[in-house]
Amino acid sequence: MDYFTTTSAASRRTGGCIIVGIYESGTLSTAAADIDAAGGGSIRRLVRRGDLSWELGESRMLCSVEGSRADRVIFAGLGKREKFGVPEFRQAMQASVRAFKGSKLKDIVNYLTLEDVKGTSAYYLARYTVESIGSGLYDFEEMKSIRKNPKTPLKKIGMALKKRGDQASAEKGAAHADAIVVAVSLAKDLGNLPPNICTPSYLAKMAERLARQHNSIQTRVINEAGMKRLNMHSLLSVAHGSMEPAKLIVMQHKGASAGDKPVVLVGKGITFDSGGISLKPGPGMDEMKYDMCGAASVIATMAAIAKLELPINVTAVVPSCENLPSGTATRPGDIVTSMSGQTIEILNTDAEGRLVLCDAMTFARKFKPAVMIDVATLTGACVIALGHHLSAIMSNSEELAKSIAAAGIAADDRGWQMPLGEEYDRQLRSNFADFANVGGREGGAITAAAFLAKFAEGLNWAHLDIAGTAWVSGSEKGATGRPVPMLTEFLLQRAGALP
Ligand code: BES
Ligand code: MN
Ligand code: ZN
Repeated sequence: MDYFTTTSAASRRTGGCIIVGIYESGTLSTAAADIDAAGGGSIRRLVRRGDLSWELGESRMLCSVEGSRADRVIFAGLGKREKFGVPEFRQAMQASVRAFKGSKLKDIVNYLTLEDVKGTSAYYLARYTVESIGSGLYDFEEMKSIRKNPKTPLKKIGMALKKRGDQASAEKGAAHADAIVVAVSLAKDLGNLPPNICTPSYLAKMAERLARQHNSIQTRVINEAGMKRLNMHSLLSVAHGSMEPAKLIVMQHKGASAGDKPVVLVGKGITFDSGGISLKPGPGMDEMKYDMCGAASVIATMAAIAKLELPINVTAVVPSCENLPSGTATRPGDIVTSMSGQTIEILNTDAEGRLVLCDAMTFARKFKPAVMIDVATLTGACVIALGHHLSAIMSNSEELAKSIAAAGIAADDRGWQMPLGEEYDRQLRSNFADFANVGGREGGAITAAAFLAKFAEGLNWAHLDIAGTAWVSGSEKGATGRPVPMLTEFLLQRAGALP
């Protein structure tokens, strides 16, 4: 994709398509007003006739609009002018993409960037423009024998600038968004692929492919024999029931000097979670192919920061296996010794995410992380707590939790901090081992985090539960690529790469 900025008036713009907006009651956006003036009131006429909607989330594409020299004009509904902020801007962009998705359009210029969008800048408006178009055009048709939707041949995205001086930061925003779009698409692909294809070995191959594509990335894959040597009996206990070999994937992005302590990202990579012997109910079980979305997001984030050549060290550690029932599967009541030496009574084999993550976290200590963030579709309880809108953030450092939450807001991929503490810890008590792997139904997202906290002693650690945000169910079923934007934002910020 190519990107460009422009300061010329909307009415003078030629080319395939431009995006302008209409606020509630027919108030015109800057660019719409300009075209209206050039066209002798053409747009106000359309509004009066009721041909355009100002409802947020709606859009119309019209051809040969009087006053415009572009082939097509997309009119995006912008809602109330006083309420037009970042989420509204994103929603209007998504609606605009729907208007041209599947068309033959090759180039587009966004003029909504001329509007006053609360609490943002030219950099972020450029980023949101490119990100919204990129994620809106995504589809997953790899597994269909014939494509249902034609690919949109869009090659060029332009955005209007309020002033020339914004050019450098807008271009930076577009470049950053470009990397984020590629990474989000990769995370979505990995999530959407069926579990008979996207196996632990497949994830490992992808990590190796990224190392070949990017000079800054090195990938190493540890097999089950290696894990045994490392005493990762908690991780291995989850893999026991499956014929599919487990993999521990380690990716290193070396962007700074060797002495610079890395940010370590740990991603849950359960490529299918049946629950094991504590079998899940049948309906909707297919969605447990998404139980590797934490892994997908950290692998994809590595691709983004490598593409951006961020001058920091980042390591991804992905424990990956399947959770299946069989004659060799782990039983409820089994006790395993984790790599840390702590023993775990497995009271529910469906609480497997924490069992693979804890060994990966212990393993990752060897990188002497400045920060460790694990990302996991960890609990159904998280979905009950926060719904599908925000990811949960738990941390043993207030400061880290705050900076991750701030990154989520800036990237429009939000999270919400939930507590940790003694009280929750006590729910994990076991009569027979150091602790159990479940703490009852109450506060389930927090007790899962409390379990992981036992392996984060002395680390600057945060946990992201993305069970509600990593994919959507229903007729629009599909991976979201979250929290790639949040993680990338966090790393861009640490690298000092934001304007
Ligand atoms: N992968 C699931 C969590 C999950 C469930 C994510 C539904 C998204 C939607 C996880 O491995 C799991 O099964 N967790 C259990 C934990 C329980 C047994 C303590 C859960 O949430 O039910
Ligand atoms: Mn489970
Ligand atoms: Zn799971």
